[in-house]
Amino acid sequence: MKNATLHFEFHISITALIMFLLKTWRASAFGVYGYLNFTRNGFLEHSKKFKPEDMEIRIEGKNCVVTGANSGIGFATAEALASCGATVYMVCRNKEKGETALSKIQSSTGNPNVHLEVCDLSSISEIKSFASRFSSKDVPVHVLVNNAGLMEQKRVTTSEGFELNFAVNVLGSYATTELMLPLLEIASPDARVITVSSGGMYTTPLTSDLQFSDGKFSGAEQYARNKRVQ
Ligand SMILES: NC(=O)c1ccc[n+]([C@@H]2O[C@H](COP(=O)([O-])OP(=O)(O)OC[C@H]3O[C@@H](n4cnc5c(N)ncnc54)[C@H](OP(=O)(O)O)[C@@H]3O)[C@@H](O)[C@H]2O)c1
Repeated sequence: MKNATLHFEFHISITALIMFLLKTWRASAFGVYGYLNFTRNGFLEHSKKFKPEDMEIRIEGKNCVVTGANSGIGFATAEALASCGATVYMVCRNKEKGETALSKIQSSTGNPNVHLEVCDLSSISEIKSFASRFSSKDVPVHVLVNNAGLMEQKRVTTSEGFELNFAVNVLGSYATTELMLPLLEIASPDARVITVSSGGMYTTPLTSDLQFSDGKFSGAEQYARNKRVQ
């Protein structure tokens, strides 16, 4: 009886191999970087550098605009700024939620200079109206915190024709900053723009498909792409 020989052939294109290696490298690099920086361990490590005395400074007379200020990081930021004496403008899309958050901040900080601006940041025309209303106050903006963000899992298109995650996370932050520039310039050289990004961006490279028009839509992937673009 002749010896049976098993014979396998693999056909892998060089491009597919490079893509696979790149993806594997990116996932591993993000895993390590993410573990060190964005997990509870990362938080505990970074919090050692936090100096409580930094929060004791007084910033009366500074005007701070915080988007998405009715919950989460935006709420905590608005509250911390108000507790240091700043005049805070909370930009929220929902009037009721905004008012509730505002009165919580006023009562926890005792600072009456906290104001609500209602604006849906997924809409360029709403951002333009907000910026024009705000500009008529003629106050310098010392700090703009682009915090509002979302991760919508379905591919939803806004009435202006933009994919929703992109509209809020990228376009909303960009348009708000651009339209606030004249007021930030009045406050310069003290002005600051802070955009709250995410370590999730390390999972994906920059792409020119800003609105995820090609391929199977994934909200998490689009969120990561948006945060990369920010
Ligand atoms: N939490 C995390 O682990 C994490 C990690 C990395 C980065 N971030 C980033 O941190 C920022 C704040 O996130 P969070 O965790 O604090 O989440 P959150 O509690 O859900 O806060 C998001 C805020 O954005 C507002 N927002 C969403 N869409 C808006 C729109 N179209 N117009 C105006 N406001 C809108 C929300 O308003 P509504 O209440 O009306 O929805 C809410 O106030 C985001 O940019 C997020 O990407 C968060």
